[in-house]
Amino acid sequence: MKDVYILAIESSCDDTSAAVLKNTRVLSNLIANQSIHTQYGGVVPELASRAHQVNIVPVVHEALKKANCTMDQIDAIAFTAQPGLLGSLLVGSSFAKGLGLSLNKPIIAVDHMMAHIMALFLQNSELSIAVPNYPFLCLTVSGGHSQISIVQGPNQIDIIGKTLDDAAGEAFDKIAKVLGLEYPGGPWIDRHSQSGDPLKFKFPISDMKNFDYSFSGIKTAVLYFIQQKIRENPLFIQENLADICASAQHTIVEMLLKKLQKASETFHIREVAIVGGVSANSYLRKRLTEEAQKYGWNTFVPELQYCTDNAAMIGAVAYYKYLAGHFDGLTTTPKAR
Ligand code: KG4
Ligand code: ZN
Repeated sequence: MKDVYILAIESSCDDTSAAVLKNTRVLSNLIANQSIHTQYGGVVPELASRAHQVNIVPVVHEALKKANCTMDQIDAIAFTAQPGLLGSLLVGSSFAKGLGLSLNKPIIAVDHMMAHIMALFLQNSELSIAVPNYPFLCLTVSGGHSQISIVQGPNQIDIIGKTLDDAAGEAFDKIAKVLGLEYPGGPWIDRHSQSGDPLKFKFPISDMKNFDYSFSGIKTAVLYFIQQKIRENPLFIQENLADICASAQHTIVEMLLKKLQKASETFHIREVAIVGGVSANSYLRKRLTEEAQKYGWNTFVPELQYCTDNAAMIGAVAYYKYLAGHFDGLTTTPKAR
């Protein structure tokens, strides 16, 4: 079968990324981070759109160069069409459409959530990697979403549960903000937790119906706890940072795994994956390995560099759409939700 070369663009939030894939193998995956948002403690949509405008041409250029590829070799151009910040999505989609139109190449609109899942299939070399068998259970945990789905095939998922309020990554980031840590706070909580006691402080675990989640309770509980402790001791955060981080992280991770276990038992599926930015969390990965031993699961997580937002995962979805002959027209419009 002929090799398929995809140029993929991801611009749904604050990072501009471009990748070149040869089938599911990543030839290049470049990410321009927007440090501008750090000083605001969160993503400022208008600044994000502007930075995408500045970054997109050089990032695509570099991705092609690093992959040692010319535009002639590219079979299709993929871009994130949803969900995300509308202004950011418009930059990537308009760029992809313009490039496709001028070079007469097909374009493929990709769902960002599907892309996080298909990141499991990305290879870094010619060596094949272990990938889950369909149907598998997948927990997607990112800054904007937390959901459990049954993945039936490439681009075919049944969502069985999701968060009713904050996403898990959002909870990490908001708790980090209260603790005075830099945005995005998830990786900082992970780092400080390394030397902390996960059982030092107890926070409530909210249990929603079925396979749904709620993370606003833990966020508020940590906030009130900190406010009260600071009244007694103004140095409480400095003196207990590692233990607060480890305890909050433990609570979020246990909530995530509890529902995953319930889903595995209910649907009799033992192929279990976790994807999205929060799947980079070292405690979640460690606890997943322990659960795998306990319940006999085969577990899968993307390589660290493909957990957080990147264009290679957009290319993975596009590759399977290309094989199925699913292309998009120039009137395709991105959607925020
Ligand atoms: O998937 P992603 O890059 O972007 C969205 O689609 O939202 O996820 C970003 C989220 C942020 O909330 C960030 O704090 C969190 O992933 N994150 C982590 C870690 N690395 C990234 N959370 C906990 N531990 C980490 N190591
Ligand atoms: Zn994402």
